[in-house]
Amino acid sequence: MQQQPPRSLYQSIAAYIRGQIEERPDVGIILGSGLGIVASRVEEGVVFPYETLPFWPRSGVEGHQGELVIGRWAGHVVAVMRGRAHYYEGHSMVDLALPVRVLHALGIKHLVVTNAAGGLDPAFHAGDLMLITDHINLVGMAGLSPLRGPNDPVLGPRFPDMRQAYDANLAGLARSVAKEKLITLREGVYVMVAGPVFETPADIRFLRLIGADAVGMSTVPEVVTARHLDLPVLGLSGITNVAPLSPDDDPTTHEEVLATAQVIGPRMRTLIEGVLERL
Ligand code: HPA
Repeated sequence: MQQQPPRSLYQSIAAYIRGQIEERPDVGIILGSGLGIVASRVEEGVVFPYETLPFWPRSGVEGHQGELVIGRWAGHVVAVMRGRAHYYEGHSMVDLALPVRVLHALGIKHLVVTNAAGGLDPAFHAGDLMLITDHINLVGMAGLSPLRGPNDPVLGPRFPDMRQAYDANLAGLARSVAKEKLITLREGVYVMVAGPVFETPADIRFLRLIGADAVGMSTVPEVVTARHLDLPVLGLSGITNVAPLSPDDDPTTHEEVLATAQVIGPRMRTLIEGVLERL
């Protein structure tokens, strides 16, 4: 879809899902590359493969299971997307907005977004967890927005405020869980690039210069969509690799990204579980 569909589309997909679940979810969780294990504590989950959900953007990328799981976790009913679609796969930005709008129509009150990202901050190491405190919407600045087109004022305002793209209260909960569970939690600014190429060393220098701490190919369209809906967002990056600054540095590969994400997954799960318990 290039054009904004009517609001009724999101509502009808939500109605279809609601017909097959007992309780409405109150938290949405989107899992990035290799992070599917985060959903393993969800109980009595009803699983919706993306291909069974009309218009749901599918991911063909390895490390993304491609299913929506709705079930109980840590005192909440969660709707977990195990895997997400990306702009570089050929989806439009409007396509990427659809899952967030459907989850909102289902009744979620909070959205947790996760991703695998390359570390730009020189202090970061592969395997680190990073709380996203803000983002740089490089792709959006270049003109690609899930909100492009006529605005439906029932969904949200024409010109959404983005001062608090990431919710301060949820960030505070994540910090306190990390402290209690002795999980090292870095903090920083995420920048989205369109991909699918990894960055050149000059790209990396540029992204550092403009104030980014981690780089990835997702998340920001979902956060823009969520903030338009006034949904509070918690953002977490798994730093799966350190971005190369010289042509002689080791290359970044998707295999490395997935292997490190698997190491990060259990810690990410503990962190999110702790946030849910406090929510
Ligand atoms: N660059 C862009 N996207 C990524 C990276 C990276 O280094 N690692 C994981 N996703």
